[in-house]
Amino acid sequence: MKIFLDTANLESIKKFNDMGLLDGITTNPSLMSKEGGNPKDAMAEITKIIKGDVSLEVVSTEYSGMMEEGKRLREYGDNVVVKVPMTPDGLKACKSLSSEGIPVNVTLIFSPNQALLAAKSGARYVSPFIGRLDDIGQNGINLIQEIKEIFKNYPHLKTQILVASVRHPIHVVDAAKIGADVVTLPPAVLDKMLHHPLTKIGLDNFLADWEKLKAGNPNIKI
Ligand code: G3P
Repeated sequence: MKIFLDTANLESIKKFNDMGLLDGITTNPSLMSKEGGNPKDAMAEITKIIKGDVSLEVVSTEYSGMMEEGKRLREYGDNVVVKVPMTPDGLKACKSLSSEGIPVNVTLIFSPNQALLAAKSGARYVSPFIGRLDDIGQNGINLIQEIKEIFKNYPHLKTQILVASVRHPIHVVDAAKIGADVVTLPPAVLDKMLHHPLTKIGLDNFLADWEKLKAGNPNIKI
């Protein structure tokens, strides 16, 4: 399963990229707004740091505006995936951009039918928002299971399932068990996945024992 970081924060992107963990980045207007400043600088920097797919979202809601913005966003790099909302105009833009060779991520997917339609429009990725479904008492992970089941029946659909709105590490385990293609994670969730209390206790014990050994022979070195 590929791991994308769901952020426009350059510090987090560099931190996790240096660990070799990032296959790509997803952003949206809210994440851009959270960072402040000029989003153009962030977009230019992110597409330079990350070699994999970087989703940059349009803010127009009608077809021609989406096409214009999509093409402008694509100027940041060949790794740019244009993110469009799951609307009739979004799907029309998805079809046009995809047929011009520009990959598209259809976002704000909340049902299996929306995922199926976005796939038919030629999307490279569909982004089902699982956390937001959980928030309203529906099971987000069930949606991933259903989309996976449907896509498996139609192998000619090359669309990848990009699990979005991930809120905690259990979401990641569940998505991986289902065989989702990608999860996009807020930095805080990826950070939590790194840690386990027994790792910390184990390391502290190793180091304490090493100090005991050194007490008898101060010149000892690895
Ligand atoms: O990038 C879209 C998605 O991951 C947003 O997540 O936490 O705002 O529901 P959230």
